[in-house]
Amino acid sequence: MSSNMDSNPGRGVAGASDDSLQAEHEKLLGKQPDEKGHYRLLPLNLLFLLSAFIMFSGTYLGRFSGYFHPKVYNEYGLPPKPGADSAAAAVDPIALGKNVYAQVCAACHQPNGAGLPPAFPPLAGSEWVSGSEDRLIRILLHGLQGPIKVNGVDYVGVMPAVGPGSGYNLNPEKVAAALTYIRKEWAGIDTPVSAAKVAEIRGKDGTRQPVTVAELEKLP
Ligand code: HEC
Repeated sequence: MSSNMDSNPGRGVAGASDDSLQAEHEKLLGKQPDEKGHYRLLPLNLLFLLSAFIMFSGTYLGRFSGYFHPKVYNEYGLPPKPGADSAAAAVDPIALGKNVYAQVCAACHQPNGAGLPPAFPPLAGSEWVSGSEDRLIRILLHGLQGPIKVNGVDYVGVMPAVGPGSGYNLNPEKVAAALTYIRKEWAGIDTPVSAAKVAEIRGKDGTRQPVTVAELEKLP
């Protein structure tokens, strides 16, 4: 320390020699806690508490980290793509869609697609699900602001957007897969919804307010 100071004479307190600084430090270090508790040492119990916490955390990670294995940290539980050269190795959209549905949509529309009247309309048997793909894509990308009639019942609610940039932030591939899945499951439609089309509409519309039924009805 003192050699450091010698080489930086300008950095010390003006007018204080090394010796006087040293003496000052020693005084401070040796000082007993004053009435207000300044300079008191940390309580020893804190050391035990922190040790216990670190031990608990270590044990917890050891037990529940799944060894940070990629199979454990696989958001949608999908099998790894064969032949790692990505893009060409396609994911089955029905499998992906089913997972997206379970993670995102089922909370409101229920796992069996029956909805939860009067708040959440059904997808099973819905004329919207069996109807226009263009409208469905908008509903997912932008959300939907009621009222809407489904199976002859009026619903007045708000569905949040689930696409890119929304709270759910599903990418076009996942949006398309969710739609492919619900159309297959509840309307028997085999034609998949393409991610490219979802991305194209997202690019054209950007992010915007939820759509209304009046707006949807202007679409093909
Ligand atoms: C937070 C709840 C919520 C989530 C999550 C949600 N929805 Fe909705 N959804 C609604 C509500 C509420 C409506 C009706 C909105 C209205 O009244 O205008 C709706 C309407 C719909 C409609 C049109 C009406 C119908 O029943 O056919 C479709 C299709 C749809 N949602 C599909 C989906 C899909 C697919 C997902 C998942 C990617 C999803 N929703 C996620 C709440 C939700």
